[in-house]
Amino acid sequence: MKLVVTGGAGFIGSHLTDRLLNEGHHVTVMDNLLTGNIKNIARHMSNTRFQFLHHDVSNHIHIVGDVDWVIHFASPASPVDYLQLSIETLKVNSLGTHNTLGLARVKGAKYFLASTSEVYGDPEVHPQVETYWGNVNPIGPRGVYDESKRFAEAITMAYHHKHDLDTRIIRIFNCYGPRLRLDDGRVVSNFIGQALTNEPITMYGDGTQTRSFQYVSDLVEGIVRLMGVKHHEPVNLGNPQEKTVMELAQIIKELTGSKSEIRNKPLPVDDPKRRLPDISKAKRLLDWTPKKDLIEGLTETISWYREELKGLSQEKQAASSLP
Ligand SMILES: NC(=O)c1ccc[n+]([C@@H]2O[C@H](COP(=O)([O-])OP(=O)(O)OC[C@H]3O[C@@H](n4cnc5c(N)ncnc54)[C@H](O)[C@@H]3O)[C@@H](O)[C@H]2O)c1
Repeated sequence: MKLVVTGGAGFIGSHLTDRLLNEGHHVTVMDNLLTGNIKNIARHMSNTRFQFLHHDVSNHIHIVGDVDWVIHFASPASPVDYLQLSIETLKVNSLGTHNTLGLARVKGAKYFLASTSEVYGDPEVHPQVETYWGNVNPIGPRGVYDESKRFAEAITMAYHHKHDLDTRIIRIFNCYGPRLRLDDGRVVSNFIGQALTNEPITMYGDGTQTRSFQYVSDLVEGIVRLMGVKHHEPVNLGNPQEKTVMELAQIIKELTGSKSEIRNKPLPVDDPKRRLPDISKAKRLLDWTPKKDLIEGLTETISWYREELKGLSQEKQAASSLP
């Protein structure tokens, strides 16, 4: 198949690209490298089934030739990124989703949207099931992401109903793994980065808020399975194993052997207190459950970060020895 993956130079998009290429497909990654990194896809550059197009999908998209799937993953995804890139985030999830839907329609391709558990906002229903409409503050700081993803879902469903486009929507819950940028501000990357450098671990609030963490290979498996099933309404993909943020910090301290102290800071505005996916639909529809154990996933992620930090310090040394 010929697939266009927007945001394919980012964390999840690049893992999905690896998997699709491994399965023998042709992949065009379209990315403007706003929050992604060319390093994530560099190994594919000489593959004749791979193409990289440096393009902002919030602008008109033109692609030559056939396309079987348009997979729209482009969007800043971490709170640090989307708070700083507020307009870009609103645009990529509105204009970008419109443009990618248009591309799918013109090419007669199927369409896959990466939505988010953030559409549930600060939820009042636990665990979050797909039929829950959410509790989102449209004008709060997180509104730029939450509301634009809600719009993205709405326009995707409209294209499905109005133009009979064959669409899929996933709501991704916290995902982690190698290639999650060290400075992207998400809890796993923050804690590991701080632990490995023995900096204080920043704990927002008292750490009793909960999250659930899914390893990226589990998510990719869920995505590929959903591509094979004709189901147009949103499907949650996440790991239902709930952990407090304090528990996560302790586990990471232990796994890294870090001496970091834990330092509390006030909770950010509208920070959800609990996040827990109900994955019964994915289980039923896709026969999918997350397989990777948290300790194993964190261990693999930590060793990737160690290499990253080594590379960064070598780059710094090389730069400082320049005349
Ligand atoms: N990582 C998670 O836990 C998580 C959770 C929920 C939803 N998601 C969704 O999954 C998708 C991928 O997230 P990620 O964690 O890989 O983030 P990421 O920031 O690593 O990747 C996003 C990619 O999109 C690209 N991009 C952004 N705006 C663009 C534009 N206008 N045109 C072209 N490319 C653009 C970036 O350069 C980057 O490569 C996003 O849509 C995100 O909302 C992720």
